Amino acid sequence: MAITIKTQDQIQRMRVAGAILADLDEILRDMVKPGVTTNELDRVAEDFIRSRGAEPSFLGYGGYPKSICTSVNDEIVHGIPSNRKLKNGDIISIDMGSYIGGYHGDCARTYGVGTISEADQKLIDVTKQSFFEGIKFAKAGNHLYEISAAVQDYAEQFGFGVVRDYVGHGIGRNMHEDPSIPNYRQVGRGPRLQRGMVIAVEPMITAGTYKCRVLKDGWTAVTRDGSNAAHYENTVLITDGEPELLTFK
Ligand code: MF3
Ligand code: CO
Repeated sequence: MAITIKTQDQIQRMRVAGAILADLDEILRDMVKPGVTTNELDRVAEDFIRSRGAEPSFLGYGGYPKSICTSVNDEIVHGIPSNRKLKNGDIISIDMGSYIGGYHGDCARTYGVGTISEADQKLIDVTKQSFFEGIKFAKAGNHLYEISAAVQDYAEQFGFGVVRDYVGHGIGRNMHEDPSIPNYRQVGRGPRLQRGMVIAVEPMITAGTYKCRVLKDGWTAVTRDGSNAAHYENTVLITDGEPELLTFK
């Protein structure tokens, strides 16, 4: 499938989808406290997305059973909400998607639960910053893999692992569109970025190895060495100047 260039009307729809998630993120962030269950986060997320006239993009996607992904500690991505209660010192990555007007938004954040270790706070901060280092190159005329290299170079300076098995993606009418967006160096430069492309850039960074395995539930990706992982993602509109972050406020 070719990379799609969005029209102004399509971009406006994607802004609407993205703004719902930026608002939802604030609600979930405030709920992340010891004792809350990941199912409670999922319920609030689903209700909020629907209250805005949208649908949760993830629900039913490839058979996925919930509206958000909640990945705790060594879980990297695609953790399934459950009756698990968050504990003081945990870290949780929350990944959310909304679909409205025929278009998707997608974003993820990692938060600490109560008081977390300095090492985990560093992991969260470096993961977020690796996204911002990457998108310094997200501009029409640059090439996609400049983003990939910048994410990797930043995160690896701190001795962290950059996950290979999961990558970012184009987004629009479908949640996952071309191109794939690795968070690590590639051979070649990749496609040239053009105004009107919309991409989900989403570094997944670990405190140890970048190697993953998937739990028996068929979804939850965890680090092979049990080290903690963080995730940070926004839906990004490419322009001739600064990129516009559609899921961020
Ligand atoms: N948000 C994830 C991504 O960034 C996809 C979630 S997979 C699902 O690509 F099955 F949970 F929807
Ligand atoms: Co994504």
